[in-house]
Amino acid sequence: TVLVVDFGAQYAQLIARRVREAHVYSEIVPSSMPAEEMLAKEPAAIILSGGPSSVYAEGAPQVDAALFAAGVPVLGICYGFQAMAKALGGTVAKTGRSEYGGTELDVLCPSKLLDGLPEHQSVWMSHGDSVTEAPAGFSVVATSAGAPVAAFENLESRLAGVQYHPEVAHTPHGQAVIRHFLHDIAGIKPNWTNSAIIDEQVEAIRAQVGDKRVLCALSGGVDSSVAAALVHKAVGDQLTCVFVDHGLLRAGEAEQVEKDYAQLTGIDVRTVDVSEQFLTALKGVTDPEEKRKIIGREFIRTFEAAARGIAEEQGIDFLVQGTLYPDVVESGGGTGTANIKSHHNVGGLPDDLQFDLVEPLRTLFKDEVRAIGLELGLPEAMVWRHPFPGPGLGIRIVGEVTRERLDILKAADAIARAELTAAGLDRSVWQFPVVLLADVRSVGVQGDGRTYGHPVVLRPVSSEDAMTADWSRLPYELLAKISTRITNEVADINRVVLDVTSKPPGTIEWE
Ligand code: XMP
Repeated sequence: TVLVVDFGAQYAQLIARRVREAHVYSEIVPSSMPAEEMLAKEPAAIILSGGPSSVYAEGAPQVDAALFAAGVPVLGICYGFQAMAKALGGTVAKTGRSEYGGTELDVLCPSKLLDGLPEHQSVWMSHGDSVTEAPAGFSVVATSAGAPVAAFENLESRLAGVQYHPEVAHTPHGQAVIRHFLHDIAGIKPNWTNSAIIDEQVEAIRAQVGDKRVLCALSGGVDSSVAAALVHKAVGDQLTCVFVDHGLLRAGEAEQVEKDYAQLTGIDVRTVDVSEQFLTALKGVTDPEEKRKIIGREFIRTFEAAARGIAEEQGIDFLVQGTLYPDVVESGGGTGTANIKSHHNVGGLPDDLQFDLVEPLRTLFKDEVRAIGLELGLPEAMVWRHPFPGPGLGIRIVGEVTRERLDILKAADAIARAELTAAGLDRSVWQFPVVLLADVRSVGVQGDGRTYGHPVVLRPVSSEDAMTADWSRLPYELLAKISTRITNEVADINRVVLDVTSKPPGTIEWE
């Protein structure tokens, strides 16, 4: 394990991902963890992340020099680089020349850290203070205008550092620096591969579950699909899945879970068709939060009834949950249930229906989940499915949800999705909601007749994490094609509009 010490910047998760992309397992620990505790984990290496502005600022987190004396390889990045320099007797000072953004880096001499990289390269910097003198025993291997010491290494003690951010995409040769440190300086074998991840999880699931019975709620999304496939690989038909078909998924998605997925994986999937029940519960409701509450409540009720049935039939000991590593880190890294946003978190079950959790994705990032999903043989369309809200199309119909309106929206949505895929742009868009303004009518003309139909809104967005988003600049030809097809093929829709609002101030969904 490589420990990524989080000094409170946004970069620790990114660094941990980059380490794993170099096929080495990594975990994030807070900088408040004492050095002995870190060393007690017997890490193969430690990476100190970026952090606050200055190592001299009041309350700035420091690094215990004991960390460097233990013989464990350490890489310092940005703030971690300065903290390392300071702890080892180098000099960190305000040079009056801060660097933010793209910066030219000059390589000074051959090194392991920057081996084979261009002598002049662009790197991403973000610092006020600078290391002006490296600690004794270190060679200065690169420099920039504002950072006299921009990279150093001490091969004998296997210590190295860079002032810039090798983990960000704006540092083109950054991943090479991380690889060089891990593989060449620290001497770690790159053995964290998809098949290793699968083997490890399968073994862990077997150890936890033994010959007991496991239940999983499938949502149609990536996480629950991959989690179930992993558990099935580990314990076969000790797993039973429940798929609540509430009728609010997009066209073809329920069938994909029910038939394709079940057939492909051989998992026992029990589908409960409750679309009629959901529509009845949603009758006359237009308030978005009210819709969410009703859908969440009906979901839990349905799942609970199904779980009771299965428990009576064959017993249930464990419940699968698709918790991911970022959820674990963000909720403090403790054990137990992470706080998941979706209502598919079935933690809302009554006390007499509580199970121990199996969380096979708990140590994984989303990109790893996708990669092992493919390795497990799941279809690309499922593995690369865009994020989709738990309440589904229920919150993409502005107004009351009826079966007729759902059918209209599903048809329009299917066209938008198909054209996006045909244009090869699935992965450059984070999400592409199509929203039906069911209570709005506008006048149009088609053939010789006047129409009085509904508009749909196209809401393609780009985003990293759904917290902020920008509207996607889709090609005009693609938008034109989607608009023509929707208005021609979907009766009742006579107008297609594009949402050009970022988030904030808008949200991704309309409700
Ligand atoms: P907003 O609309 O707030 O959405 O920008 C951010 C992300 O969350 C999804 N979303 C939901 N997911 N239950 C969910 O499971 C919900 O009630 C819900 N509302 C929004 C949305 O699709 C986007 O990815």
